[in-house]
Amino acid sequence: MAKPHQKAHETETTDDFSLTPIPDKAAKVIEAIKTRVIKTLENSESKFRTIFEQSTFGNKIIDSDLRIIKVNRALTQLLGYSAEELQGTLITAIAHPEYVNDWKELQAKLWADKNASFSIDTCILMKDQATLWCRVTSIIFEDSGATFGYTIFEDITERKNMDRIRAEVDTKKDEFISIVSHELRTPLTTIKAINQLLEKAVSKDQTYYGFIEKSNYHILRLEKLILDLVDVTKIQAGNVDLNIINFDVNAFIKACIGSLQTIHPTHEIHFKGTLPVTIMGDQFRIEQVLINLINNAVKYSPSSNKIDVRLSSAAGYVKIAVQDYGIGIAKKNLSSIFKRFYRVGEAGHHFQGLGLGLYIASEIVSKHEGTFGIESKLGEGTTIWFSLPMVQHLD
Ligand SMILES: Nc1ncnc2c1ncn2[C@@H]1O[C@H](COP(=O)(O)OP(=O)(O)O)[C@@H](O)[C@H]1O
Ligand SMILES: [Mg+2]
Repeated sequence: MAKPHQKAHETETTDDFSLTPIPDKAAKVIEAIKTRVIKTLENSESKFRTIFEQSTFGNKIIDSDLRIIKVNRALTQLLGYSAEELQGTLITAIAHPEYVNDWKELQAKLWADKNASFSIDTCILMKDQATLWCRVTSIIFEDSGATFGYTIFEDITERKNMDRIRAEVDTKKDEFISIVSHELRTPLTTIKAINQLLEKAVSKDQTYYGFIEKSNYHILRLEKLILDLVDVTKIQAGNVDLNIINFDVNAFIKACIGSLQTIHPTHEIHFKGTLPVTIMGDQFRIEQVLINLINNAVKYSPSSNKIDVRLSSAAGYVKIAVQDYGIGIAKKNLSSIFKRFYRVGEAGHHFQGLGLGLYIASEIVSKHEGTFGIESKLGEGTTIWFSLPMVQHLD
């Protein structure tokens, strides 16, 4: 009797193919898993609680009605309210009155649109009624069948104040540029007219004629600088009006290169590509862009004597590229050169300029719904191109 019993017992404890012991074993395994899951949940819940409580960012949990369920210490410190004052209150009650809609938007995005997360810059009124600018990032999560929002507050008041000061300074700077450029224009026009009279009155073989020529050159430079400043003012105010006409781009480039070649005897400007194409645009403004690019190509390639201008077309656009073999631009500076008053450090010290040419050029091109592109290698040269919508081929 003992033997079979013993055998049965043995079978029970082996890992072999007996059917009867499995439910027991499965129950044990399930129990072990359950314990682990509960432990993991408890662990993650305690981790979550620690992160929520200890975070240096203001944290809170809100429900779908924007009612504050829980806040952490950092948030109470940030806003000056106690946890008791905040918990149970609608977040809209402490929002800045002008920014209440931001919360409605956040609510809509998270709960109605079912976005997993949403971020917004908005204003809160602190307990002392001072305004706090904050970046609010919310994610939604489910708990016991309900959906809550976990919201992180980042104090961005300082950055917002800096942005405001910067904007005010920019406005003042624009006003100053506008006044100065207009005030300088009038006397310059008079000086220019007097110089032209002198040029006619003095014969070319007289010593003074050279002085007049020199002052003419500098008057033109000054005029160009002032016109750039006037253009910047116009761009800032959105007052650049285009005088749109159809013109043959091929003939236009040839004429432009022709007049620039006489001004820049140091460089040979080659034109490659004779595309018979008409574009629609403001010829004066597009000429300004091309002149800017060629002038830059000359200015920034003092040790080379060649400039290539290429015309090509693709997908309804014409592309005009100006290539030089000069100092080039470092990769890190490429994205900045179209910014207002931006000049690459090195170039800024050795070459004269205000850093406005490419800014004005890019504004003109974008007004024509065109684009700019640049390829450059330090010490090897630069290619800057712009593309404009094409009208038709003249076959
Ligand atoms: N062809 C070029 N080669 C090298 N650097 C260039 C070239 N064109 C522009 N840059 C750089 O971009 C800056 C901005 O150009 P731009 O707006 O025309 O201003 P500016 O010529 O008055 O400095 C220049 O100061 C120069 O550093
Ligand atoms: Mg320039």
